[in-house]
Amino acid sequence: MSGFYVTTPIYYVNAEPHLGHAYTTIVGDALSRWHRLLGDDVMYLTGTDEHGLKIRQAADAAGQTPQAFCDTIAPKFADAWTRLNITNDDFIRTTEPRHYAAVEELLQRCYDAGDIELDTYSGKYCVACEEYFTDEELLEDGLCPIHKRPVDHFEEENYFFRLSRFQDRLLKWYDEHPGVIKPEFRGNEALGLIRGGLRDFSVSRTSLDWGIPLPWDERHVAYVWFDALTNYLSATGFGDPSVDYTNRWPVDYHLIGKDIIRHHCVYWPAMLMSAGVDLPKGWAVGGWLLVDGEKMAKSTGNVVNPLDLIDVVGVDGFRYYVLAETSYGSDGDFSFEGLVGRYNSDLANNLGNLAARVATVVGKKCDGVGPAPRSDSPLAEAAANAVAGATSGWDAVAPSRALDATWGLIKATNAYLETNEPWKSEPGAEVNAVMGDALEALRIITILASPAVPQTSELIWQRLGLSGSVTDQRIPSDVEWGGYTGGAPVEKGTPLFPRIAS
Ligand code: ME8
Ligand code: MG
Repeated sequence: MSGFYVTTPIYYVNAEPHLGHAYTTIVGDALSRWHRLLGDDVMYLTGTDEHGLKIRQAADAAGQTPQAFCDTIAPKFADAWTRLNITNDDFIRTTEPRHYAAVEELLQRCYDAGDIELDTYSGKYCVACEEYFTDEELLEDGLCPIHKRPVDHFEEENYFFRLSRFQDRLLKWYDEHPGVIKPEFRGNEALGLIRGGLRDFSVSRTSLDWGIPLPWDERHVAYVWFDALTNYLSATGFGDPSVDYTNRWPVDYHLIGKDIIRHHCVYWPAMLMSAGVDLPKGWAVGGWLLVDGEKMAKSTGNVVNPLDLIDVVGVDGFRYYVLAETSYGSDGDFSFEGLVGRYNSDLANNLGNLAARVATVVGKKCDGVGPAPRSDSPLAEAAANAVAGATSGWDAVAPSRALDATWGLIKATNAYLETNEPWKSEPGAEVNAVMGDALEALRIITILASPAVPQTSELIWQRLGLSGSVTDQRIPSDVEWGGYTGGAPVEKGTPLFPRIAS
């Protein structure tokens, strides 16, 4: 069994979970579910980023201590993920002792390597980014280019990580590991940042106490990005001498949004090189979901709450929409009309309709018992194509492609039924053969679709009278044509996806 370790960013607790957070977390969940179907030993990590100035200010505004404030928001993320049927194996909070241990260990290693040194910083800082900017990087009116809001002038004694020393090493490493950042054009963005020249970045603050003290100088707390990035190691047991963190590390994929490429694809690998820790095996960078052309973010005030949307299209309807609608890596536009449109076309009219008509015809023409498929069914090739397309889609961390391939089989099966019109025929061998084929296709579809629509897949699995659970199935063995042997009662049940009036 091979291990598969995948992470999301840890989200800032200054805001409640929104659609953008849900998007990345659903992609990670679907990818994890796919890898469990492959038989991998999956560890899926998400969590919350709780230190730094931004959180300190949010806590102050709420009139709470930072810890008490974080303790009220972190569970909102965990609860949102439960409601969205997210199967994370761990949830890390940067206020946990295991995380302190890992951050102290990583800082000490970089310090001992001579890559962290004391210096003075004077310049502009965006609190929303938790990032310094040069004057050239700011907008013409001196605003932060990401948040379009004023920056603060900071001047303080900081420890600096000597990132400037890593340019050649990083370029060489990426050159030797082509394709580690998916999709490729996002990898090129990271390379562009490195080629453009690297500035040392500050890894400590004295003006703030809400953070992890540096092991060698308690007057300073660790910069929130150094702290946050280390979460990916904390969850493997790094920093705990009784655990071999390499049982999980290196990570297979860091899923991130394009807003944090610099931190994940430039700072982080340099920090790991300095500390003598292996680099990640992969990064998968998503674009932004835009609302009216703007990045959805608390600072822009256009936040969409995912939990409101699941009241309309259900958990699976929402998961399917975010996975299928946008090509991962590119920006996508969220709209309510798009959400309902996808639901009606792909879920109500395609998947829901297929499941309903198969059960209806089996009920009317086959005494409610599923017949066996033909080994030389015309649908066998469509099924093999769907398996191949889904496999290559998930391999490329391209959920929309994987689902497109899966829905290809749904459409082929609906078309097959429309061509054969078994509902018009007399019961007998011909109808049985057609319905056996459709049932087998539906069984395979159910497995392939389960990472995206887990509850619906499980329900179809049970209605088809199949044994065990859809999550017990393995790819590729259980998606080979002919796995369905027939003989089980097929249940119609209530409609899976009732149409929504638009
Ligand atoms: O940056 N569209 O946390 P964060 C798509 N704590 N994805 C979006 C999105 C949008 N409109 N808005 C947010 C941080 N995201 C740091 C990370 S990791 C060591 C520390 C997603 O709460 C996307 O994955 O601002 C983005 O990278 C992440 O949420 C940022 O969440
Ligand atoms: Mg952000």
